Amino acid sequence: MSVLEVRDLTIKFGGLTAIDGLNLRVDEWEIVGLMGPNGAGKTTAFNCITGFYKPTHGTVYYRDREVTKLPPHRKAALGIGRTFQNVGMVKSETALENLLTAQHTRAGYGSLQAIAGVSTVRQREKELTAHAEAILDLLGLADIRDRRIGALPYGTLKLLELGCALATDPDVLLLDEPSSGMGPEESDQLGERLLNLRQELGVTMLLIEHHVPLVTAVCDYVYVLNFGKLLAEGDPDHVRNHPEVVAAYLGGEAPDALAQTETPEDEPPADEIAPADAPVQRKSAARAPRKATGATKKAPAKKTPAKRAAARKEAS
Ligand SMILES: Nc1ncnc2c1ncn2[C@@H]1O[C@H](COP(=O)(O)OP(=O)(O)OP(=O)(O)O)[C@@H](O)[C@H]1O
Ligand SMILES: [Mg+2]
Repeated sequence: MSVLEVRDLTIKFGGLTAIDGLNLRVDEWEIVGLMGPNGAGKTTAFNCITGFYKPTHGTVYYRDREVTKLPPHRKAALGIGRTFQNVGMVKSETALENLLTAQHTRAGYGSLQAIAGVSTVRQREKELTAHAEAILDLLGLADIRDRRIGALPYGTLKLLELGCALATDPDVLLLDEPSSGMGPEESDQLGERLLNLRQELGVTMLLIEHHVPLVTAVCDYVYVLNFGKLLAEGDPDHVRNHPEVVAAYLGGEAPDALAQTETPEDEPPADEIAPADAPVQRKSAARAPRKATGATKKAPAKKTPAKRAAARKEAS
C-alpha cells in the first residue's frame, strides 16, 4: 500500500496549466524526490496534495483513502505534514515557543481547561515541552531553544521549520526545498539528519529539492517535473543522467550542483552499469521501528528495479 498517491492531477490557473496529468507515488519508508526547474509546478503539487489548492482534475490518496477535497487541517490531522518554501513561523517567538505552537493542535485539551490550569493540563504542557526539546536535540538546535527566531540565519530557520512539522507527529512529511539558504556542508548534514529522522521516527518523505547531491544521498526514487508535466522518474542516478532532465535544467536556471552530475567519460552512467535485476542500493536499507511511539513499522523487502517498476505499473 502506498502512503501517498497522486493520480492524473491537473490544476489550471486561468489559461495556465500549472500541473498536467501528474502521477506520483510514495511508498512506506521511502524518501521520494520531486525536482524540476523554477516554475515547473512542484510547490503547486504540494499545495494540491495538502489541500491548499483544489485540483481541477485528478485524485489524491493517503493510505488508499481518497482525500482530494479534504481541507489542510483535516489532512494534517491524518498525518500529512509539510514545510513551506518560504519559512512560515512566528518571528517574535523563541524556537521552543514555535515548536509548542506547532504541537498545539494535538495538545488534547480545550482552552477553558488551559485557563483553569488543572494539573492534567500542566502535566500535558510538561510533556509537550519535553517533546519539543527532544526535537531540538534531534536537529542539533538545542542551543537556540530560547532565542527569538527573527534574527536567525535562513538555513537555521529552515531546519527549525522542519522541527515544527515534526512536532505535529506526521506520518508522511512534505518538505519544500529544505536546503535553501544552506551551504554545501550544512546541506550534507541535512541529508544525514533526514536519513536519521526516517530511522528514528519512521517518517516517510516527499522532498522538493534542487540540490542534486542531497537528492542523490537520500532519495529512493525521484520524479522530475517540467512545465507541469512529468519529464522523468526513476532512481536518482537514472534521473540525474537523463538527457532531458539535464537539458530542462540547463535551459532554465541550472542548480549549481548539476555540474557534479556529469559522469566521467570513461565511466558509464550508473544505470548502465547495474544489470536489470541487480538490487537497488536503497538508502532505506537499515530501517528501524519508530522510537518515539514504540510503534513498529515493518520494513518492506528490498525490491529490484524490475520489481519496483512492475509494482508501480500495477498500482497505477
Ligand atoms: N495561486 C496561483 N495563481 C496563479 N498562478 C499560480 C499560482 N500558484 C502557482 N502558480 C503558477 O504555477 C506555476 C508553477 O508554480 P510553482 O510555484 O508550483 O513552481 P515551482 O516548481 O515550485 O517553482 P520554484 O522552483 O521556483 O519554487 C508558475 O507558473 C506559477 O506562477
Ligand atoms: Mg516552489
